[in-house]
Amino acid sequence: MSKETFLSLLRQHTGEYLSGESVSETLGLSRAAIWKYVEALRGEGYEIEARRGLGYRLLGTPDALTEAEIRGFLPRPGRVGQALHCFSQVNSTNTYAKKIALEGAVDGSVVIADEQTAGCGRMERPFHSPAGKGIYLSALLRPQLPPIELLPVTALSAVAVCNAVEQVCGLRPQIKWTNDLILGKRKLGGILTEMALEGESARLQYLVIGIGLNVLEQPEDFPPDLREVATSLSQALGRAVSRPKLAAAEIRELDRLYTALENGELEPYRQAYRRDCVTLGKEVQILRRDGSREQVTALDIDEQFGLVVRTAAGQLDTIRSGEVSVRGMYGYIE
Ligand code: BTN
Repeated sequence: MSKETFLSLLRQHTGEYLSGESVSETLGLSRAAIWKYVEALRGEGYEIEARRGLGYRLLGTPDALTEAEIRGFLPRPGRVGQALHCFSQVNSTNTYAKKIALEGAVDGSVVIADEQTAGCGRMERPFHSPAGKGIYLSALLRPQLPPIELLPVTALSAVAVCNAVEQVCGLRPQIKWTNDLILGKRKLGGILTEMALEGESARLQYLVIGIGLNVLEQPEDFPPDLREVATSLSQALGRAVSRPKLAAAEIRELDRLYTALENGELEPYRQAYRRDCVTLGKEVQILRRDGSREQVTALDIDEQFGLVVRTAAGQLDTIRSGEVSVRGMYGYIE
């Protein structure tokens, strides 16, 4: 019998007293063993009251991205989240997910870290990932679909994250095409999707969706160059947000997305993306991978989540990669 089983019994009766006798009977534990677990759990940040004659009562849980805490909010995981790999520190959850993908990790495995020492964003940029503040999460999927159908996954995941944030926090972030999550014109998070194909057959080996969200940061937690352009959910709400609860919601939404992707039921995601996308209707600057820039007007999102724009010469064009700066955002004002 483990400490985790004792914890899950306390959880099932959160706020109620469980007598020492009933715990002993249910779990087959001695009083000494129960006390050892109580002390260990208190050391991990659990608030457990022990009262003579009444028993034990769970009063509070830590804001920890541990398997026990996340599963506490995810009682019946679907395919995504059936295996959880939780770390207090890792270089990058995407890097770890790619490693275990090659070692045969199960479809739907999720890697979560409290801190990343080498978190990475698109265009090989670093992703600031301090300890105890954000959620750094990567989901490993193995969809049986042609790789071309997976190109919109970054955009689709952005909608999934907006859904999760809205469920837990009651506010809905916006999306800057394609992968930036925005609150009040500042960056709340981002998504980095990576996939590997088998050389011979061009079949998908794995898909990794990496999501970074700023949750508990205050301005001083961001380095000076990010302070004016980044924000967190706590900053926006003026209160703390439960990271394990939000991580569980992200996992549930990714699971829902996985099913929708396989069934081709993406229209609700397309509609939500169009609604949430701050880029549409704006003058934007396209920053191409070769370093060139072009001023255009963003008009629409096409079926593949490409950005339909009108060029300065009045022609219609669709942007499928690269990055756009939106006038008035992140200090882009010229
Ligand atoms: C971006 O803003 O360009 C994308 C940022 C993606 C960051 C997440 S955090 C979890 C996962 N692990 C990483 O190293 N990157 C992604």
